[in-house]
Amino acid sequence: MRITKRIISSLLSLLSIQFIATNALPITPVPASRAASRYVIENPLPYAVQTHEVIRVPNTNVILISQMSNSVLLKATVNNQGIIQDIGAFQLGQNTSALHGLALSKNYPGHVWVTLQKDNKLVLLDPMVKSISFPPTVIKEIDVPAPGLGPHYVGEYGDELWSTLQDSSDVLRINYKTPSDYTIYKGLPRPIFIAQHPDNGQFYTGEDNSASIMKIEPATNKTTQLSIPSSAGVTPVGLIAGPKGHGIWFTLLGNATHGTGTIGNLHADDTITYHTLSSSPLSSNASLLHLAFDPKAKTNYTIWLLASSIINSSALDMIIKVTFDESWSKIVSEDIVVTPTHLNKAHRILVSPNNVLATELASSKLVSYYTL
Ligand SMILES: *[C@@H]1O[C@H](CO)[C@@H](O)[C@H](O)[C@H]1NC(C)=O
Ligand SMILES: *[C@@H]1O[C@H](CO)[C@@H](O)[C@H](O)[C@H]1NC(C)=O
Ligand SMILES: *[C@@H]1O[C@H](CO)[C@@H](O)[C@H](O)[C@H]1NC(C)=O
Ligand SMILES: *[C@@H]1O[C@H](CO)[C@@H](O)[C@H](O)[C@H]1NC(C)=O
Ligand SMILES: *[C@@H]1O[C@H](CO)[C@@H](O)[C@H](O)[C@H]1NC(C)=O
Ligand SMILES: *[C@@H]1O[C@H](CO)[C@@H](O)[C@H](O)[C@H]1NC(C)=O
Repeated sequence: MRITKRIISSLLSLLSIQFIATNALPITPVPASRAASRYVIENPLPYAVQTHEVIRVPNTNVILISQMSNSVLLKATVNNQGIIQDIGAFQLGQNTSALHGLALSKNYPGHVWVTLQKDNKLVLLDPMVKSISFPPTVIKEIDVPAPGLGPHYVGEYGDELWSTLQDSSDVLRINYKTPSDYTIYKGLPRPIFIAQHPDNGQFYTGEDNSASIMKIEPATNKTTQLSIPSSAGVTPVGLIAGPKGHGIWFTLLGNATHGTGTIGNLHADDTITYHTLSSSPLSSNASLLHLAFDPKAKTNYTIWLLASSIINSSALDMIIKVTFDESWSKIVSEDIVVTPTHLNKAHRILVSPNNVLATELASSKLVSYYTL
């Protein structure tokens, strides 16, 4: 009896094997394409309470970083991935001079303009890229004329510098060859960045605490305030020129309680189109501080945004790659990376062909982001 049961059960299992074999689950190779791996590296920097701007000296592997709280300029070499190889640190002025803005000079190739916010000065430096240990040298020093106070941004446009005077809420235009030729434009609290419109040639500054952008027409000295509707948000910070034909672009940190994930595109006729991120709750609530166009933006319609916890400890620090359609009128895709160190108050973003760098204001770190 027992034997018979065993035989039957063996027969049954044989049958079931047979059953599986003749009706096998189909297994078919399918394409295994995938996106490149994403690497987010955090490079520790010498300690400072506040790390601000970052720029790359053209045609070199040298980047410069401003640390405002101790007025230190960092000079670092980076590899192809943007990872720091070697670093030197130089105090500019006193430790209270408040080194802040950094900008490349076109007229003096390889040299950079910096602002010393508390010394009230604009300074042209030769960063001495030959060696990390060579101190930068001063080529030109320009005092900000009274009653102007507290230069934050500086940018070179032909023979002129334009600077936001954060502490007196003014904008300065000054001829760096003839510094007696200048104009101070009274703004609302507080002008932060300036861009020249690629299409109408006028200058615009975002006023972070006034939800407004000031237009300046230097030929007539006329200024106009363009207010930002509360439905889009408040606190415009990053503001840069887009590709020719596509206006100025700016980021908003949020409204009274939330990041709004919104950026603005200011056209030649001063109308503004707002674009709101929507691919994820992370991006639709993003507090957007700054932005940079991809080096290939003219052909790949890509812009990089930096979201920051600087406004609210509930906000995330993120690098968001946003791609538009060919007319820059509609967002096509969003790609989000959150930085490893939370609450770092991510501050500026610098995009090179092979990597993206971002400063972390509050953690003395530089993020290098690349894909392989
Ligand atoms: C600046 O220098 C003074 C005097 O050497 C020093 O007491 C102070 O701690 C320094 N502050 C910073 C932020 O480095
Ligand atoms: C603009 O202001 C500057 C400085 O105040 C002045 O020299 C210049 O003549 C003004 N331009 C016009 C068109 O009023
Ligand atoms: C910070 O963000 C949280 C969550 O969105 C919000 O509830 C709070 O009101 C915000 N605080 C400020 C000061 O904006
Ligand atoms: C602030 O923005 C959030 C997110 O976009 C939105 O839900 C909320 O209604 C806005 N609040 C105000 C006062 O506009
Ligand atoms: C934004 O964040 C709040 C909480 O702070 C959340 O309630 C809300 O759903 C988020 N908005 C979106 C669009 O995810
Ligand atoms: C645009 O080019 C950059 C590299 O410069 C690349 O990271 C990005 O993915 C490109 N965007 C698109 C949409 O291909």
